[in-house]
Amino acid sequence: MNYKAPRGTRDIFGETVLGLNLLEQKAKEIFIRHGFDEVRTPIFEEAALFTRSIGQTTNIVEKEMYIFEDKKKRKLALRPEGTVSLARAFIEHRMDVSRSACKFFYSGEMFRYERPQAGRYRQFRQIGAEIYASSSPATDAEIIILAQEVLSSLGIDKISIHINSLGCEKCRPFFREALVKYFSSVKDLCEDCLRRLEKNPLRLLDCKIDSCKFTDDVPEMSDYLCCDCKDNFYIVQLLLKKANCNFTVNGRLVRGLDYYTRTVFEVRSSTVGSQDALAAGGRYDNLIKEIGGQNTPAVGFAIGAERALLAAQNVGFFENLKIPEKIFVAIADQELFSEAFTFAVKITKYGINGNKDISVFGPINGKSLTNQLKFAAKIQASKTIVFAKTEFENDKVLIKNMKDKTQSEIDLNKL
Ligand code: HAM
Repeated sequence: MNYKAPRGTRDIFGETVLGLNLLEQKAKEIFIRHGFDEVRTPIFEEAALFTRSIGQTTNIVEKEMYIFEDKKKRKLALRPEGTVSLARAFIEHRMDVSRSACKFFYSGEMFRYERPQAGRYRQFRQIGAEIYASSSPATDAEIIILAQEVLSSLGIDKISIHINSLGCEKCRPFFREALVKYFSSVKDLCEDCLRRLEKNPLRLLDCKIDSCKFTDDVPEMSDYLCCDCKDNFYIVQLLLKKANCNFTVNGRLVRGLDYYTRTVFEVRSSTVGSQDALAAGGRYDNLIKEIGGQNTPAVGFAIGAERALLAAQNVGFFENLKIPEKIFVAIADQELFSEAFTFAVKITKYGINGNKDISVFGPINGKSLTNQLKFAAKIQASKTIVFAKTEFENDKVLIKNMKDKTQSEIDLNKL
């Protein structure tokens, strides 16, 4: 077969699937405890929804969206992230008007046409949470603490939280102006940065190309924040400190999405390689209005599930995985097939001695016991329950321990 999974995607199985499930289960438990409700939005949306809200000159919109036309020539896009879809759903269901519920979480696949590398895929999972209708800086702190809580529930403790304020529509233009002035004198800007200089100067701070590197005297937003933004950012920091949440103020932190206002943050881990952002988010007070809703402030974050799993794996997370015990039901005598089959159905439903954490295989018709045992070894069964004529006549079966090769007899009614 010449077919392969498309570049940047992968088949996920074995421990990785179990790990991702456990990671999402833990995150969901925490979100529910904090009063968040789950929402599932479609995997594709009208392309214009994303282009309009994420920003025309962002990498995501310029280069990374999977856009296609359906049979009716509607322009659709696979979602590159969850925040915008959730905001669309919030407005569509008039929750911006009723404000009956304001805390939501989601998890699911996102799609970005990026250059694949370790921790960076074209199809990846995000677990995110958003809080609507609060402009309080306490909500920014709550979201950052929540991101930290989810990651530490996975055992990930070696993280650094970077925060910054991107200001508001009043003060940001002055910062943009200062950036344009600064970068206009930088020679050898890459092609993208030359465009950014004109259209989206904040993104200049995020360029990874050496010739675009800036020096220490590059302008920082903190020097341009208006009084309200300054006070706001001060309170966020104060509350984080009071909650013993360690963070670094990183004046150069900008984000790859244009909808942010004021607080932005990234949670990084040095244990996962160059794609070190495990989670990221921030405040986006204008997005809901911009896409047609009532003026509703909002703040949220998303964890990259694959990267979080990688970091968790490095601190022994996989040791917590509950892998069901594999039980193989075999027959030494072919005429016992139906009895063994009924028994397998019974233990699959009710478990063995109340233990339902099992995976049941067999019986296999028409194969010698030797071949059945070989199969049991291949699937790494821990026990094989053998139906043999002599024992079965006394209502007994044989139990083979596949690891130490010991064997014992047991009453069928005791299982
Ligand atoms: P983002 O920074 O684009 O933010 O993505 C959040 C996280 O998703 C990243 O920190 C990273 O862990 C993961 N991620 C992003 N791209 C990839 C990729 N190609 N492969 C693997 N993992 C990836 C957002 O998406 C915002 N919607 C976050 C947010 C929620 N802001 C407010 N609310």
